[in-house]
Amino acid sequence: TTETYYFSADDSVVRSLFKPRNDFAHKGNYGKAIIAGGSYGKIGAVVLATKSALKTGAGLTFTLAPQCGYEIVQMSCPEAMFIEGGGRFIKNFDIDKGTTIGIGPGLGTHEETRKGLFTFLKDYKSPLILDADALNILSEDQKNLQLIPKKSIITPHPKEFERLFGKTENSFKRLELAREKAKEFSIYIVLKDHHTQVITPEGNVYYNLTGNAGLAKGGSGDILTGILTSLLAQGYSEKDSSILGVWLHGKAADFAAEKHSKESMLPTDVIDELGNVFNDLN
Ligand code: APR
Ligand code: MG
Repeated sequence: TTETYYFSADDSVVRSLFKPRNDFAHKGNYGKAIIAGGSYGKIGAVVLATKSALKTGAGLTFTLAPQCGYEIVQMSCPEAMFIEGGGRFIKNFDIDKGTTIGIGPGLGTHEETRKGLFTFLKDYKSPLILDADALNILSEDQKNLQLIPKKSIITPHPKEFERLFGKTENSFKRLELAREKAKEFSIYIVLKDHHTQVITPEGNVYYNLTGNAGLAKGGSGDILTGILTSLLAQGYSEKDSSILGVWLHGKAADFAAEKHSKESMLPTDVIDELGNVFNDLN
């Protein structure tokens, strides 16, 4: 057959997805985003994700992290509200309808955290973002994959993808496996790579063309989680959030590389460039 399911997410595609801010907007129009994660020694991951969610425009942003992160998060992200939870995040916080949650950055795989995640996913049925250790916890048993709410966005890097779905011989086979799994579980898979691919539950693939090797540093993935959670909270569809989010992340990285070099640019510099990317889009 000549069925087309590969698309490139070029600048013109992305520009058509972007919705400029309404002049009469108030914060209630731009949703609530919660970043859940962090553990002792990895609070930086939730800080990066939280800052990215804020800089992507969510109306209200919360960080759900263990107590050891309280002062760090409040000092580094004064615009965000802190909810103490950590591994027991589910019990401590009733997530009201219309709140979008991104789980994973710096989460860790502590026993209490694992139990907390499973308990949470047993009754939470809305689409959410799952990244990093949230994916590592789920990959312990294939049965866990059924717990992922339909239309959720998962953001594995190649190693996390392999843990979730198994080894493949090459990147073509990996993409075919990703298409199968996205269909099987009705999820969006953001397969992170040099050219990140967004795979939809229909099995369509969108190739991203922004981003560079300056992103090959710890913390880059946390930023993507923050961006995606923020876009989904603001009312972009799961598909548009994924395509636009991956593009924004890469574009901000390209701006950061121009200013600082691929070697020296830090994830923090990428966050700082988000404003210039939005100015360009507007
Ligand atoms: N070209 C373009 N983009 C790149 C490149 C590259 N050469 N290298 C990395 N990236 C992008 C990826 O596409 C992805 O969006 O940077 C991001 C890296 O994300 P992760 O691999 O998740 O990295 P990060 O989470 O920041 O750090 C590693 O992930 O495995 C977990 O918990 C583990 O703390 C560890 C963390
Ligand atoms: Mg990661």
